Amino acid sequence: MLSYQDRSLYADSVPLADIARKVGTPAYVYSAATIRANYRAYADALDGVPHQICFAVKANSNLAVLRLLAREGSGFDIVSGGELHRVLAAGGDPARTVYSGVGKTADEIDMAIANGIQSFNCESEAELGLIEAIAARHSKRVAFSLRVNPDVDAATHPYISTGLREHKFGIDIGEARDVYRRAAALPHLEAAGVSCHIGSQILDPTPLMEALDKVLDLARHLAADGLPIRHIDLGGGLGVAYRPEDPAPAISAYGQRLRERFAGAGFELILEPGRSIVAPAGVLLTRVLYRKRSYGKEFMVVDAAMNDLIRPSLYQSHHEIIPLRRSDRGTVVADVVGPVCESGDFLARGREMDNAAPGDLLAVCTAGAYGFVLASNYNARPRPAEVLVEDDRWRIVRERETYAGLMRGEEP
Ligand code: LLP
Repeated sequence: MLSYQDRSLYADSVPLADIARKVGTPAYVYSAATIRANYRAYADALDGVPHQICFAVKANSNLAVLRLLAREGSGFDIVSGGELHRVLAAGGDPARTVYSGVGKTADEIDMAIANGIQSFNCESEAELGLIEAIAARHSKRVAFSLRVNPDVDAATHPYISTGLREHKFGIDIGEARDVYRRAAALPHLEAAGVSCHIGSQILDPTPLMEALDKVLDLARHLAADGLPIRHIDLGGGLGVAYRPEDPAPAISAYGQRLRERFAGAGFELILEPGRSIVAPAGVLLTRVLYRKRSYGKEFMVVDAAMNDLIRPSLYQSHHEIIPLRRSDRGTVVADVVGPVCESGDFLARGREMDNAAPGDLLAVCTAGAYGFVLASNYNARPRPAEVLVEDDRWRIVRERETYAGLMRGEEP
């Protein structure tokens, strides 16, 4: 997606400085070609086994991104009524949409059933009871998977690891068979699958395969019990290389291992990748406001902050920061910080980077996933614009929030 041509940083065939000048900063920029390529990497890697890719909307829910993926044939993984609305508005197919999440409300379940979603990934027996009651009101039979917790260590950041017994997610895999058996007595539910999701930003697929083996074993027992299990939903996709030297696993190699497990297994594979499809396709553009030195420490104050991209503050995550125009001024070791009034407001710490001057533009890389979607209005900062690049063209796919927009719905 990114390349330097004559010292200028391009997203595909568009100079990013053009976008920054016209749209202002901070702004998120996504490459349509990279999103498509990453989606197709999954589709190609799974060619030959029955499968469905359900893009995890939580990673990037911009309507243009969702529409682009819907046109590629993607299904969707949603976790709220809001995400369902976005999928529908983008032209996504509810019949290829799975609904995950530990706390679905009655209204959300009602809306999902009314719109004919494919399947619920249920996380508790209480939730199953509520879905049964609402499905009965609709006189519909509704497909579900139980999200089981396989007690496998995903070896990722503790906030995004979800498959250990102490986590709030899923149902103890050892109890799942009994829960399925009891659910079989509920007339408006159909046990269509088994699901799990052990975590995100997983760089070594081994724990995913370990979880899959446990889930496949359960699915075979359930099928033998006479349940109509059709699919296995293995949750999110692979992690990505935030640092150039990160050992990011290849989607093709992962697909190969999945194909081996699913060949002849008699189940369809559902995957819910988010990050690996959109993270590498996005950058956050920001402008240097000031340079300052305090107690011998170098600070680069930029116009993007933790409210625009919270990942560094929340997960100590690394995003490469590179100049939109390459210079000969060498490098500096600096903290890259935003205008928000918290010491936790930083995009990088102690980073060796381009020795940029006030007014210069920077790109914060690999920001297409869990970037804009986690943006807030903290410090009454309007959320950034979003731009989609298509080869040598680009368009604003979400306007920068206005001050009036910031206060919408409020009464003084
Ligand atoms: N399916 C379920 C049920 C999930 O909970 C998630 C992510 C996904 C799929 C997508 O996983 P992915 O392919 O993106 O790894 N905000 C954090 C990430 C939170 C992930 C939550 N669940 C971050 O910025 O790293």
